[in-house]
Amino acid sequence: MPVAELNPQSEIGNRKSEEVVVSVRGLTKVFKDFWNRPKARAVDNVDFDVRRGEVFGLLGPNGSGKSTTVKLLLGLLNPTRGQIEVFGHSPRHVQTKSRIGYLPEESYLYRYLNSRETLNFFGNLFHLGKEERDSRIEQLLEMVGLSQVYMRSVGEFSKGMQRRIGLAQALINDPDLVILDEPTSGLDPIGCREVKDLILALARRGKTVILSSHLLSDVEDVCDRVVIYYGGKIQAMGALKELLSTPDAIRITTPALSRETMERVLEIIRQDVAADKVRIDTPTQNLESYFLDVVQKARRAAAETSGATSGARVAAYLRGGAEERPPAEKILERLTSPQAAQPKPAAPVATVPKVDDKKLEALTKAAESTPSAGKPKPAAEEKPVDLSKADEKLSSLLGKLK
Ligand SMILES: Nc1ncnc2c1ncn2[C@@H]1O[C@H](COP(=O)(O)OP(=O)(O)OP(=O)(O)O)[C@@H](O)[C@H]1O
Ligand SMILES: [Mg+2]
Repeated sequence: MPVAELNPQSEIGNRKSEEVVVSVRGLTKVFKDFWNRPKARAVDNVDFDVRRGEVFGLLGPNGSGKSTTVKLLLGLLNPTRGQIEVFGHSPRHVQTKSRIGYLPEESYLYRYLNSRETLNFFGNLFHLGKEERDSRIEQLLEMVGLSQVYMRSVGEFSKGMQRRIGLAQALINDPDLVILDEPTSGLDPIGCREVKDLILALARRGKTVILSSHLLSDVEDVCDRVVIYYGGKIQAMGALKELLSTPDAIRITTPALSRETMERVLEIIRQDVAADKVRIDTPTQNLESYFLDVVQKARRAAAETSGATSGARVAAYLRGGAEERPPAEKILERLTSPQAAQPKPAAPVATVPKVDDKKLEALTKAAESTPSAGKPKPAAEEKPVDLSKADEKLSSLLGKLK
């Protein structure tokens, strides 16, 4: 799978649809004991809608009701109270089920089948013709990075490899709604990145994705909207962008500045904002991108692994026609988005309460008027920090796509 294909934030607007795929009203599930006494109120009076093309996250701590909600959506459990509609029908409707792909929290695959046989088995359940089945199996194995180990029994697979084959199984029917319970659990960081990119690629094709997770960074990277559960109840719900925005502060990231320039800039800011409200630090690379770089180097040095390899491109039948832009362009788009790009380690970051536009203009001028800033600089130096970081990542990622 390509490591980074999309700019999630700019995608959301394009793929948003008003068509409601899942509608949940007053959903309640109380588990009872042998004597019919309430044992656990797993889901408690929950309402939400999921629209076509959305990536919708169910978040919450352990035991908060995420998996129970997923099982209710799939018709695997009966609600104690409330209504669920999936594609306008009950989740138990047979036609509805054929439009859903499901990755369970725990692997329920047959231990003694190898990955090809496993996918063949599920392809048969969906009555796929041999040619179509074989073609999809090929693409899926490639996509999840299991082509090289397809002869080994699934029972021998490591946890992450089982997750990968589970994911391939969930997509064999080219589902319109994909429900993933903890999709990245047990996956190495490369696998996590690949699963996240796959989720975004699916959503861009108009597929709806519901995922449950307690790994917040994964959710943050892919979800349009989330609900946060605690004790079976929804504690917060909304678009991630809105839930996470801090409109009363701004962040300025620049290449390392001279002490002199810094003083000038701070002087202007201090005219508006108390000194103790301004924070200056040096951003660090995040662990995910550092890890990916290290592994990429090891791979280039041709180190051997008996585990899963990095996945290939998203299976063509899952990509559809809409995704035909060159991958490099998409990668660049994503890496240069303010959310995804990683700033240079050496660059200082200043966080200040929101300053008005005129002040910002003055700050720019102040930087320009310093002796060092006045000199013409080589093009590379003039690039915004995020972009140059993006270039570095881009070339390392492009290597991966080969
Ligand atoms: N079959 C069951 N019988 C009895 N209680 C159950 C059953 N399944 C779940 N529960 C209870 O319902 C509550 C919610 O469980 P659920 O599995 O939905 O949580 P979760 O949010 O998915 O947690 P995790 O993050 O650990 O996967 C828990 O208290 C759990 O013990
Ligand atoms: Mg769970």
